[in-house]
Amino acid sequence: MALAKIVYASMTGNTEEIADIVATKLEELGLEVHNDECTTVETEEILDADIIIVATYTYSYGGDGELPDEIVDFYSDLADYDLTGKIYGVCGSGDTFYEDFCKSVDDFDLMLASRGATKGAENVKVDLAAEEDDIAHLEKFATDLVAALEAQ
Ligand SMILES: Cc1cc2nc3c(=O)[nH]c(=O)nc-3n(C[C@H](O)[C@H](O)[C@H](O)COP(=O)(O)O)c2cc1C
Repeated sequence: MALAKIVYASMTGNTEEIADIVATKLEELGLEVHNDECTTVETEEILDADIIIVATYTYSYGGDGELPDEIVDFYSDLADYDLTGKIYGVCGSGDTFYEDFCKSVDDFDLMLASRGATKGAENVKVDLAAEEDDIAHLEKFATDLVAALEAQ
């Protein structure tokens, strides 16, 4: 059975809920899913996964949109890995009030691509908590990731 690993950061729960929606859909599609908060993960665990998913919020500490503090180590560690052959997707929550809406989603997208992983679905950016159309986008995100894995 193919394994999908979701690593998420969430302060107030919106991104955790996003990760749960993606996890549920992937399980429906027949995958084994490990859905873990980022501070509980050893980065090397991603090497066991066929699909790597990062779900993160964005937080600006007075400046530009920045990565949440708790996911910075995971982000930095990724630079040491060759992820050739892995499928990846990135999603997360932000707030359109901010100029750098969901910038951390784009930062992880660039990092994972730079490590040789193959993007299997378009980034999904959710304004605060996921609503009905966001849930549909997240379910399509999961479906696209599985299709990309099967096409490999
Ligand atoms: C101080 C502060 C700064 C924030 N900065 C940004 C930002 O730069 N860009 C953005 O898209 N959202 C920003 N947000 C919004 C959060 O990313 C948003 O509330 C998100 O839903 C939090 O996700 P969580 O519930 O998973 O913690 C900020 C929120 C706070 C409180």
